[in-house]
Amino acid sequence: MPGFFSQDFIDDLRNRVNIVDFIREYLVLKKQGQNYIGLCPFHAEKTPSFVVSPHKQIYHCFGCGKGGNVYSFLMEKDGLSFPEAVVQLANRCGVPIPQDELSPDKLRQNSLRERYYHINELSANFFQKMLYEPKGKRALQYLQNRGLAEQTCKLFQLGFAPDSWDQLCSFLLQNKVTEKELITLGLAVKSQKGTLVDRFRNRLMFPITNASGKIIGFGGRVLDDTQPKYLNSPETPLFSKGKHLYGLNLARGSIRNKEQAILMEGYMDVITAHQHGVTQAVGTLGTALTEEQCKLLMRYTYNVVTCFDADTAGQKATKRGLDLLQQLGLKVAVMTIPEGEDPDEFLKNQGYEEFQKALLQAYPVFEYNLLKLMEKYNRDDISGKIQIIQELVPDLYRVQSPVKRQGYIQMLAERLSFSEQAIYAEIRKFQTGQSFNNREQSTKNTVQRKKDTVTAADTAQRVLIRLVLETPEILLEVEKAGGKELFSNDLYQEIYQTNYLLSQAGHNIKVEDLVTHLENEEARQVLTEILLSDELLKEGKRIYQDCLTTLEIELLNRKIEEKNILMTQSEKNGDVTKSLKIMAEVQVLIKERQSLLSTLKKGGGNLEG
Ligand code: UTP
Ligand code: MN
Repeated sequence: MPGFFSQDFIDDLRNRVNIVDFIREYLVLKKQGQNYIGLCPFHAEKTPSFVVSPHKQIYHCFGCGKGGNVYSFLMEKDGLSFPEAVVQLANRCGVPIPQDELSPDKLRQNSLRERYYHINELSANFFQKMLYEPKGKRALQYLQNRGLAEQTCKLFQLGFAPDSWDQLCSFLLQNKVTEKELITLGLAVKSQKGTLVDRFRNRLMFPITNASGKIIGFGGRVLDDTQPKYLNSPETPLFSKGKHLYGLNLARGSIRNKEQAILMEGYMDVITAHQHGVTQAVGTLGTALTEEQCKLLMRYTYNVVTCFDADTAGQKATKRGLDLLQQLGLKVAVMTIPEGEDPDEFLKNQGYEEFQKALLQAYPVFEYNLLKLMEKYNRDDISGKIQIIQELVPDLYRVQSPVKRQGYIQMLAERLSFSEQAIYAEIRKFQTGQSFNNREQSTKNTVQRKKDTVTAADTAQRVLIRLVLETPEILLEVEKAGGKELFSNDLYQEIYQTNYLLSQAGHNIKVEDLVTHLENEEARQVLTEILLSDELLKEGKRIYQDCLTTLEIELLNRKIEEKNILMTQSEKNGDVTKSLKIMAEVQVLIKERQSLLSTLKKGGGNLEG
């Protein structure tokens, strides 16, 4: 994130606003102790868990985990990129952005991007104009036949690429766009003869925008049955397949208000949905849902309903997408539509009311999976039942609420006439295998991390981060004890290392500005949580030495384990010398560990106590 504007400018600008006053423009905050507390604007809640600290100038929601400083708040709330948030804040504060604030490299990149957006905008305007000219008559007729209102076509900036080899090219070239730019943006291709020809010909044109409404690419549909049905922009500096959601710029407000997003597959599905008032709909554009798309969605809501086509391809997409959404901690339901239809046809045939009804009847993922498995396997037959249970166990294992899990197990037991005990036994079996497999993986995501039991080592790591940030004097000592290596979680490592590198580079940064330096959103959230969890600090100073020792011991444990593996390997390979050498090293490590353990006992400060 830094590098776009100078760090001084970013920090100075942030210092001009008081985060409490700033956030107060969005929600009601009440004073509580040193902090302010309110209802989180990023998820639905009835009791406040959103904390704002005037001292640290950061916020954190203990409900959904979102956290950061003024910039992150703006990014999150208005769906802005970091540079956009800086510009927005500067505008609000009436601070001009000095031109020399932009580093030359970024300036070039920035203006290049702006230029690319501009060229796409020119092209979209061109296509749109063509739709209303005589040669676009057939296309306009097509849209009308498919039930789209004029207003809807305008809202989505629909257009028509005429049946010509170079009409767009010559229009853009006249407007001082270069041949190179046309190719870079995927608007033209070089023919075998070496001439430039329009990529999109005789197609209905759907501009694809990013969340802020800037045009990043196009999709073009044929007016008949020729293949391919849709032609899309290739990968360009602005457009990457699977990184965007169609219609998000129009849907994002509504997604926040309705606290729900509906995921559909196609251009036409989304457009029809919006025309019928289903304004929280966005499109994946036919690709299997990607992690980037899920994360994009998570900026607006944690509540997703999928509404994919009823055909088999659509259902495959559903299964993969559901797994992904759940892994990322979103609440997901599946809306089913009648065989052979897609959301577009469903809405046109049945209307808004029926769609709403179907939406309310959307299945929670578990029920949906059960339903699908009961269609797939014969549940009157014992091997069919076993198959169903075994395929559902991983899902059951993932259900977080014990009450819900119990309910599902009951349901499953009833529908399959199986005993609940037998199902529990299967889950336990799965769990054992699971925890074994997971041992070596570091916990990657926050959701998972939160659910993990907070072990002494975890607490120690959090305390240590807090202390390092608030008492920089100890940084050297921590670095000597192992530094980044002391942390077993990669988010902690990232926070520690970012702070360490900044202070090495001579920056005297405030904790609240560290937030700006963390590129990873999850790391930012973990940081604000650590900074605002005051119980960590209460005891922190007293148990600091113990924390450090505990983590040094953990680090030794990891090293010993690694060496043991190496030793076994060299034994297998018959390399006695090597295995003896490693054994000696292990002895040294074990001694070291013993002496640390004894200081820990003497000190008596117990982390868990
Ligand atoms: P569909 O085949 O379901 O098309 O593909 P659709 O959206 O229902 O379109 P209509 O109703 O026939 O006009 C779903 C999505 O997959 C992508 C497009 O984004 C499309 O909207 N797709 C499909 C392509 O990119 N290329 C294709 O050739 C087909
Ligand atoms: Mn369709």
